[in-house]
Amino acid sequence: MRIGMIGAMDEEIALYLQEMEQRKETVKAGIRFYEGVLNGKTVVLCKSGVGKVNAAVTTQMLIDQFNVEQIIFTGVAGAAHPDLNIGDIVVSTDCLQHDMDVTALGFPAGQIPFAEKSVWEADRQLIDLAVRAGQSLAEDVQVVTGRVLSGDQFIANHDKVEQLFTQFQAHCIEMEGAAVGQVCAMNEVPFVIVRSMSDKADGSAHVNFAEFTELAARRSFAIVQSMLQQL
Ligand code: ADE
Repeated sequence: MRIGMIGAMDEEIALYLQEMEQRKETVKAGIRFYEGVLNGKTVVLCKSGVGKVNAAVTTQMLIDQFNVEQIIFTGVAGAAHPDLNIGDIVVSTDCLQHDMDVTALGFPAGQIPFAEKSVWEADRQLIDLAVRAGQSLAEDVQVVTGRVLSGDQFIANHDKVEQLFTQFQAHCIEMEGAAVGQVCAMNEVPFVIVRSMSDKADGSAHVNFAEFTELAARRSFAIVQSMLQQL
């Protein structure tokens, strides 16, 4: 079983790189892939870069060229659900693109025109595994399941995040998950997104993101590491 693991930024993959054994590096399309062993499992780790296009290309390469059989996305997000605090964890039930907007032609917001689906469900087993792994975190960290919203926008506005929460029942907002989900669905590869909250996607998001990304990335890492032990 080869497991693909994606983070968008250096901070999101740094701890995995430190722990990985028997590392072999390959660069394709400017993306560096690290094949190796983590917690006794064969993994292919990579930094996709930020945004949906980077995430989609990376996911397809993990599947085609590195033959991974499941994919875990690990990293940070802006909280959309008002009950979530910085540091809390969202494990994806499903994900969609909030910036897919063809409403002018009569399609509902978020819907990909003429596609069978626009919402991508994560794998039940991987979700359960992530939730169970989350139980080992400190008691004051909430680990919830919910919808991950993705778009090529850093959200830093209270009204906007409230609107996205209401419109799409979002738990958190980031910039890659739905692209990973869509490509995985197209290839019938199971996936899950594990995100720790670095900010609340409001007027303080840029400050909080800078301050809390490292803490949030550490929490995502703790869960994914524990998932790998149980896989
Ligand atoms: N990733 C972390 N915080 C985010 C935000 N506020 N908007 C989009 N992506 C994010």
